[in-house]
Amino acid sequence: MTEPDRAAGFEILKREDFSDVAYSLVVHHPRMAKAARPGQFVIVMLHETGERIPLTIADFDRQAGTITLVVQAVGKTTKEMQQSCKAGSVLHALVGPMGVPSSLTGRRKVICVGGGLGVAPIFPQARGFKENGAYVIGVVGFRTKQLIFWQEKFETCCDELILCTDDGSAGIKGFVSDGIKLAIARHRDIDEVIAIGPPVMMRACAETTRPHAIKTIVSLNPIMVDGTGMCGGCRVKVGDTVKFACVDGPDFDGHKVDFHDLIMRLGRYAAQEKTAAQRWSENCRMKDQIVPAVRASPSPIPTTSDLTRELLDHLDPFEQVLGG
Ligand SMILES: Cc1cc2nc3c(=O)[nH]c(=O)nc-3n(C[C@H](O)[C@H](O)[C@H](O)COP(=O)(O)OP(=O)(O)OC[C@H]3O[C@@H](n4cnc5c(N)ncnc54)[C@H](O)[C@@H]3O)c2cc1C
Ligand code: FES
Repeated sequence: MTEPDRAAGFEILKREDFSDVAYSLVVHHPRMAKAARPGQFVIVMLHETGERIPLTIADFDRQAGTITLVVQAVGKTTKEMQQSCKAGSVLHALVGPMGVPSSLTGRRKVICVGGGLGVAPIFPQARGFKENGAYVIGVVGFRTKQLIFWQEKFETCCDELILCTDDGSAGIKGFVSDGIKLAIARHRDIDEVIAIGPPVMMRACAETTRPHAIKTIVSLNPIMVDGTGMCGGCRVKVGDTVKFACVDGPDFDGHKVDFHDLIMRLGRYAAQEKTAAQRWSENCRMKDQIVPAVRASPSPIPTTSDLTRELLDHLDPFEQVLGG
């Protein structure tokens, strides 16, 4: 839904920086705040000629009439937003809420898992499960202590919070999959695990729960263009079926998702993304302040293994590579 009476755009009321590359924006949009459900996302255009990019509704406040977006600056548009989005500035367009809301009822005990930037979008689910009476175990993972954000928000809605850092500087030393193992060892009656993060992280979560036959939902982030099920850009393979994440998801059964296909498709436009980021940074008056975006140098006709390697080296929007 767009808000017809706000032709001038959607005002950013507040911005907070979590690290050099991760930031949150609180946007005034009462109708979106009213309609939003956990698990949904919006498509944002920074300005009239800007790219449309999907961003999860990481929080919404119906009373204040705001939604919160948490963004990782990984490429041209997210960096441009990092530079120009400030309190008082506006987003040109905001369409949504999109996607099927997460199913949050009928569970007694759940684990909500967020890795890196995926910590932000898992928050509405954790709060929603708690509001529906479930015992909520939060498992959140960061590379290091300095990158931790929203710990206090999770503490308000989680019965237990397992904090993981890669380097052991806070919480347990290890990945979120280690946090899941710990939670499963403590609780033999988990109904469901829901995980959001980089595809490799979500795959690791699904493989951790598979031997225990615990239902595991993952929120997929394929490349989206129109967000209406028309373009086919966000096609994902789930078991024997092909789904479109924008209208059928983004939540899917993690034990059935073809993660290899997802990773391959995410890397398909790496060369074009690199060119766009370079072109923009060359033309940008504040280029000295830009964080290096793309590290990999793709071959002109990438092979399957090139693409996989490329993607693992290419920045992932949900990765904690540069923090957040
Ligand atoms: C449902 C969904 C929810 C998302 N939520 C968030 C969020 O809350 N916060 C956040 O920081 N990021 C989120 N993303 C990813 C975000 O959309 C991309 O980081 C962004 O589009 C990158 O654009 P760019 O121009 O800055 O970078 P680019 O250099 O264009 O791309 C960098 C990487 O981002 C991915 N990407 C590029 N274009 C798109 C696109 N149109 N759709 C999806 N992925 C793309 C690709 O993997 C690419 O390798 C979400 C993606 C999806 C599908
Ligand atoms: S984004 Fe086009 S079909 Fe989903």
